Amino acid sequence: MDSTITPEFLTALPKAELHVHLEGTLEPELKLALATRNGVDIGQSTVAEVKATYAFDSLASFLAIYYPAMNVLVEEQDFYDLATAYFVRAAADGVRRVEAFFDPQAHTSRGVPLENVILGYSRAAADAASIGISADLILCFLRDMSAESALETITAALPFKEHFIGVGLDSDERDNPPSKFARVFAIARAEGLKLTMHCDIDQVGSIDNIREVLDVIGVDRIDHGTNIVENPALVELLLERGIGLTCCPVSNSFVTDDMKAAEMVDLLHRGVKVTLNSDDPAYFGAYAAGNYIALAEKAGLGLDDVVTLAKNSFEASWLSEPEKQSYLREIDEYVAASRA
Ligand code: HPA
Ligand code: ZN
Repeated sequence: MDSTITPEFLTALPKAELHVHLEGTLEPELKLALATRNGVDIGQSTVAEVKATYAFDSLASFLAIYYPAMNVLVEEQDFYDLATAYFVRAAADGVRRVEAFFDPQAHTSRGVPLENVILGYSRAAADAASIGISADLILCFLRDMSAESALETITAALPFKEHFIGVGLDSDERDNPPSKFARVFAIARAEGLKLTMHCDIDQVGSIDNIREVLDVIGVDRIDHGTNIVENPALVELLLERGIGLTCCPVSNSFVTDDMKAAEMVDLLHRGVKVTLNSDDPAYFGAYAAGNYIALAEKAGLGLDDVVTLAKNSFEASWLSEPEKQSYLREIDEYVAASRA
């Protein structure tokens, strides 16, 4: 890392977080408190015991721990408390804008009413304004569930459309290509919602899936997606369309054997709107700023690179153009003030 870029500088640098799963922000302390509040037996009773279960080295082994933990989320207040704890933590990392994922099917499949999920998260997103964060929600479909289940989910969620701005696709990518969800994404597009999809790291068929999200689905953004470096023609397409990638360095180093720093920097220097994000910070141990610090250290980034990453986070967001410009000016002012 350039010696002028300190962790403190990166922490206070204004940034947007575009790839965070609210369910992935469930810290052990809150997990235990909600388990007690709702009388749910999670099999552990101390923070150390919960942390000892956090052993994963792949997306599949992570998801096997991630979903059962959600049993503690039941009431609207639980979803509110989870998201609020995240927003408070994110604000301390210089986050000014959040476009957060949530997984309704992970809750409705356990009998939790959809309104508890959407209204709890949405109330927390509105209240985040009081701590200087503008926040909106992205409803994700679980790709290892059926296309019919995704259609049922969008049908049930559309009456609450004012509470989310886009749809996404997450969970286990293997054998669940983007085209499986073409219909539900077409419906979402027709409803005026923004579209994004996970293209997880080093999947079987990563490049085919990236091609599908661009050609068949017509996404506005791609989550992860760094395997695109393997295909220069697809990188060109990304540049032509100005599509951003929401990269998650620390997450990558947990679910693969590499942070994929070289790939991110390569794409960044080719002009791709690479952004840095935390993914599931309670599980991977780093919030937004921690991801900037990790990549800056690993790749020896200079000031220009980290400022471009922060600017990209607003440019790739789904804010209006005047709102983007206002945050970009804030970054310039912050950099100027910290150099003075
Ligand atoms: N990929 C797929 N599904 C997920 C992720 C991810 O990074 N995080 C939470 N669910
Ligand atoms: Zn993710």
